[in-house]
Amino acid sequence: MNNNKKGALSLTFIALLVIVEGIERAQFPPSFLFGTSTSSYQIEGAVSEGNRGPSNWDIFTHLPGKVKDGSNGDIADNHYHLYEEDVNLMHSLGVNSYRFSISWSRILPRGRFGEVNQVGVAFYNNLIDSLLLRRIQPFVTLNHFDIPQELETRYGAWLSPKIQKDFAYFAEVCFEEFGDRVKFWSTFNEPNLMLKFGYLNGNHPPGRCSEPFGNCSFGDSSTEPYIAAHNIILSHARAVGIYKNIYQEKQGGSVGIVIMTRWYEPLRNITVDISAAQRALSFEMAWFLDPLLHGDYPIEMRRVLGSRLPTFTDEEKIKLRNGMDFIGVNHYTSLYVKDCMFSPCELDKFSGNALVFATSQRNGVPIGASTGMPTMFVVPHGYSQRSDGVSLNDLLNDTNRVEFLKSYLSSVATAVRQGADVRGYFIWSLMDNFEWTLGYSVGFGLYHVDSKTQVRTPKLSAKWYEQFLSGGLETDLKSSA
Ligand SMILES: *[C@@H]1O[C@H](CO)[C@@H](O)[C@H](O)[C@H]1NC(C)=O
Ligand SMILES: *[C@@H]1O[C@H](CO)[C@@H](O)[C@H](O)[C@H]1NC(C)=O
Ligand SMILES: *[C@@H]1O[C@H](CO)[C@@H](O)[C@H](O)[C@H]1NC(C)=O
Repeated sequence: MNNNKKGALSLTFIALLVIVEGIERAQFPPSFLFGTSTSSYQIEGAVSEGNRGPSNWDIFTHLPGKVKDGSNGDIADNHYHLYEEDVNLMHSLGVNSYRFSISWSRILPRGRFGEVNQVGVAFYNNLIDSLLLRRIQPFVTLNHFDIPQELETRYGAWLSPKIQKDFAYFAEVCFEEFGDRVKFWSTFNEPNLMLKFGYLNGNHPPGRCSEPFGNCSFGDSSTEPYIAAHNIILSHARAVGIYKNIYQEKQGGSVGIVIMTRWYEPLRNITVDISAAQRALSFEMAWFLDPLLHGDYPIEMRRVLGSRLPTFTDEEKIKLRNGMDFIGVNHYTSLYVKDCMFSPCELDKFSGNALVFATSQRNGVPIGASTGMPTMFVVPHGYSQRSDGVSLNDLLNDTNRVEFLKSYLSSVATAVRQGADVRGYFIWSLMDNFEWTLGYSVGFGLYHVDSKTQVRTPKLSAKWYEQFLSGGLETDLKSSA
């Protein structure tokens, strides 16, 4: 019985290889970064160990009703204790880079109002050294949603300009402690998504919002996301300024930002929907990238928001244009949008003040295959798997994720051939982990993680990635034929 099952699995695998033909490691330059990614709160656990201070996510997940399955990141993947095993998993995959984030409250338990925590510094030193020993480049995110709770309590975190000073201090501590070995820095991961969830819809900390975009007891969705974004953009600029002025020359690394983007297509081929698609993109991607590339917010945002959108001083505009070395793109899905500004309709709550209706279907035809996330479709973009009520065998046999990776990488290869300057691709995620308000009910990992035993098991996609990275696909295909 068991043997038959194993046989079936490897047969499936060979069958897959036959379909793969299109995409190969050799289509990308040898220096291309192929990695996996994670974030601190989603995997580390050990939230009260090693002098770590409480983060906003520790507080939030312990409030009743905030997380779908009532879970939290207290233990998560216990990566704090199992990091060597995880680095070995990556080594066995054959990746040359790893994107992870630093827990701000592990380094600075009380922000700039307390000491640098040497136990936290030692943890990341060990992780970085362990990666480099196996020739895996650390690609480090400074902020991936979690912040010291003290900053929230003291002055309202991103709503206060005071946080710019805290972020700059945190960034400098990291450049100083780790920059001799870390050559890739991302200031923020998806600040646009963080703010939409935190201040527009209110379902992430600090849980602030107002109607019609969310139902919270405090907050203002018409202004606060934009105030918080302003402080993030200026925080990014300060950190980049410090890196470029003090560290870049001697450390020789680069610094950038990672933005979340959904792609939007007009639902109908009419002017108002074409403008609506443009507006949805402006309120999501250009919201951060326009200031960082051109020194100011997109005109579509100013038109809708007027004085609700903060302004940059001339001095700030010049500093902003000093910009960044790279842009990271996190792409999940594409949707159709329809205008709601000229003829009122049901507003897409995630697009907020862009005033559009969003849908995955046009005339009943879905934009792409569905995934474990109800709002994400393969177009060919991000792939999640439902993990509640699904057998381990089915979780491990993630043929859809393999299909997704192949089609996504083919698109990346095409873009590179057509002249796009793409330098790397990081699969989200190395392993199943704490998926924020969805808890452990969906899994994005190449490795399945048993939440009771912490045992990591490779899914079919992990085996596929390993084969792809070793460049062995064509050879295996021929030898099996
Ligand atoms: C894996 O899934 C594919 C289709 O999704 C199915 O054909 C195959 O039998 C499955 N293999 C195993 C071992 O469950
Ligand atoms: C908003 O939340 C309050 C309190 O939880 C609830 O009573 C009310 O029905 C909610 N309103 C909407 C529109 O969901
Ligand atoms: C949209 O309409 C214009 C004419 O109004 C037409 O030229 C164009 O081909 C149409 N595009 C699509 C994608 O249907």
